Amino acid sequence: MKAIKIEKFGGPEVLQYKEVEIGKPGPNEVLVKYLSIGLNYIDVYHRTGLYPVELPSGLGLEAAGIIEEIGSEVKLFNVGDRVCKASAPIGGYSEKQIIPEDKLVKIPDGISNEIASSILLKGITSEYLLHRAYAVKKGSKILFHAAAGGVGQILCQWANALGCEVIGTVGSNSKIEIAKKNGCHHVINYTDNNFVEEVEKIVGKNGIDVVYDGVGAKTFEGSLECLKIRGMMIAFGNASGYVNTIDIKKHIAPKGLFFTRPSIMQYTIKREELEESARKVFDAVLSKKIKIEISKKYKLIEAKQAHIDLESRVLTGPAIIIP
Ligand SMILES: NC(=O)c1ccc[n+]([C@@H]2O[C@H](COP(=O)([O-])OP(=O)(O)OC[C@H]3O[C@@H](n4cnc5c(N)ncnc54)[C@H](OP(=O)(O)O)[C@@H]3O)[C@@H](O)[C@H]2O)c1
Repeated sequence: MKAIKIEKFGGPEVLQYKEVEIGKPGPNEVLVKYLSIGLNYIDVYHRTGLYPVELPSGLGLEAAGIIEEIGSEVKLFNVGDRVCKASAPIGGYSEKQIIPEDKLVKIPDGISNEIASSILLKGITSEYLLHRAYAVKKGSKILFHAAAGGVGQILCQWANALGCEVIGTVGSNSKIEIAKKNGCHHVINYTDNNFVEEVEKIVGKNGIDVVYDGVGAKTFEGSLECLKIRGMMIAFGNASGYVNTIDIKKHIAPKGLFFTRPSIMQYTIKREELEESARKVFDAVLSKKIKIEISKKYKLIEAKQAHIDLESRVLTGPAIIIP
């Protein structure tokens, strides 16, 4: 079968489209033939080594397909089931993968493979960010960076449906309408404007209840400035670079802030958490609370171009790879 592999960390050029062998599933594993694969910024961190993986490695955490073979002890699934995953083992950029059964969830009727592979990782992330890392409520004032992106498309619509006042930032004017369509009540171009000043014009000084910051280095300090006394800073990504140092005296103490740096892995540790979160994501899409627009589709052989596009900020919403 064909798969994308990396033998060293680096730019998009390290992605290799290769013929590889696939074995047989072990007792608690299944072999999934992928029909659609999700593209995520975390794949970039794995490729560059920002999040180190053991080399050589595959790439990709989010994928959907059909079970072709099951191991002797598998209890949750049968051959022919439509399933998707949002976690390790890394290696979703491939035609097939062997996965422990407890990492998979069934795709309900009404959700296509393409949509499933666009929403499971980004949707579970949105679910835990809005409900569990911090429980937003009606009227919560939230700031979300990169509101026209993949997670942005899902989280901002969901937050809007929950009754939050949603302020989104985007990197260019062409993304403003997209962020509005994603449910943002106010959109700020943070390339051309000082977003702290713009946020202050909307909600006043120290007016934000919670910041969802997946941009990282470039936005970290400004995000803290926007927060209210005892506000919540959720640093959940690093598209512009990693925030390496937090100075408690400077960053946290003046407003008595709460700070978390969460990962989807910590919020899906238990099988019940994965199932419950996935169910909420699927329900939100089936009930049309969240509408998914796939921004671009690539072939597996085009994975390099997909990474170039993701890092050059031209994608506006979830993108997928069709093997
Ligand atoms: N912790 C978790 O559990 C978890 C799970 C999923 C995703 N994430 C994080 O969530 C964030 C969004 O993920 P995603 O897959 O949906 O990606 P995405 O938002 O579709 O793409 C990243 C966006 O970041 C913005 N950005 C700002 N500065 C950038 C820079 N220097 N280089 C590249 N992009 C820059 C761009 O939007 P603008 O042009 O509008 O600025 C870009 O479109 C990522 O940081 C990801 O790691 C975290």
